[in-house]
Amino acid sequence: MAQIVGGLATSHIPAIGNAIARGKQQEPYWKPFFDGFPPIHAWLRQVQPEVVVVFYNDHGLNFFLDKLPAFAVGAAAEYRHADEGWGIPTTAPLAGCPELSWHLVEQLTAAEFDLTVCQEMQVDHACTIPFQLFWPDQQPAPVQIVPIHINTVQFPLPTARRVYELGRVVGRALGRWDDARRVAVMGTGGLSHQLEGERAGFINKRFDLQFLQSMETNPQWATQFSDRELVELAGTQGVELLMWLAMRAALTEAGSGVRLVHRHYHIPISNTATGVLALEVLP
Ligand code: DHB
Ligand code: FE
Repeated sequence: MAQIVGGLATSHIPAIGNAIARGKQQEPYWKPFFDGFPPIHAWLRQVQPEVVVVFYNDHGLNFFLDKLPAFAVGAAAEYRHADEGWGIPTTAPLAGCPELSWHLVEQLTAAEFDLTVCQEMQVDHACTIPFQLFWPDQQPAPVQIVPIHINTVQFPLPTARRVYELGRVVGRALGRWDDARRVAVMGTGGLSHQLEGERAGFINKRFDLQFLQSMETNPQWATQFSDRELVELAGTQGVELLMWLAMRAALTEAGSGVRLVHRHYHIPISNTATGVLALEVLP
């Protein structure tokens, strides 16, 4: 049985890739964001996850509007970062964990999720930047990953309720994995932001803080909202918070509860209200 050590979540803005490449972490604009991470680095040094299941949303790199699965699971030996048009430096490939990928595909399919399985999969900033943020001194991050894409680009989106169920089944499947490795579950994206249209620049601090609190004390809270309600509350790209929801749902299937390791909220980086979170699973 795998050991689920905890959950991680962070915003995933392309500009962070440039800030890291240019060593801007201590500059006044960037410092309040990067200051959210050191307590989580200390925790990761302690718990040392070996495998990370990462819920992220592809932004048109691996899938485009012509063919866009609701859920896609990576089952590759490595995941290459490709240039998606933001001009950020391409980082080294992340190692895959095909044996866990196939276990999750089997368990999710048995639980009636109809998946797209990707034995080749390129990953964009939403998958790569979080690993730069959480393991800044070790690149590529010293973990194997299983990326799970959730559509937040083309409407209608999978419902929050369905995303929660996806996360729950992943958590349960990890408990049934016949392997002793330490696993962390990650969600990337959010919090409130909108990149285009009349409401470009939209941020909703009140909602974000409620959502962050729900991650600790009321994980199902966000499942009450439809995709359109989430757009209204969090913005067209703020719906990426669905990734956090999947991560948190997975933790409900591990241990007796969660302990807050650290959380951080800062407005803005680029167009986004940023959130960072680490939760430890209690035995
Ligand atoms: C920004 C935020 C995102 O989530 C993203 O995928 C791209 C850009 C931004 O705020 O610039
Ligand atoms: Fe995004």
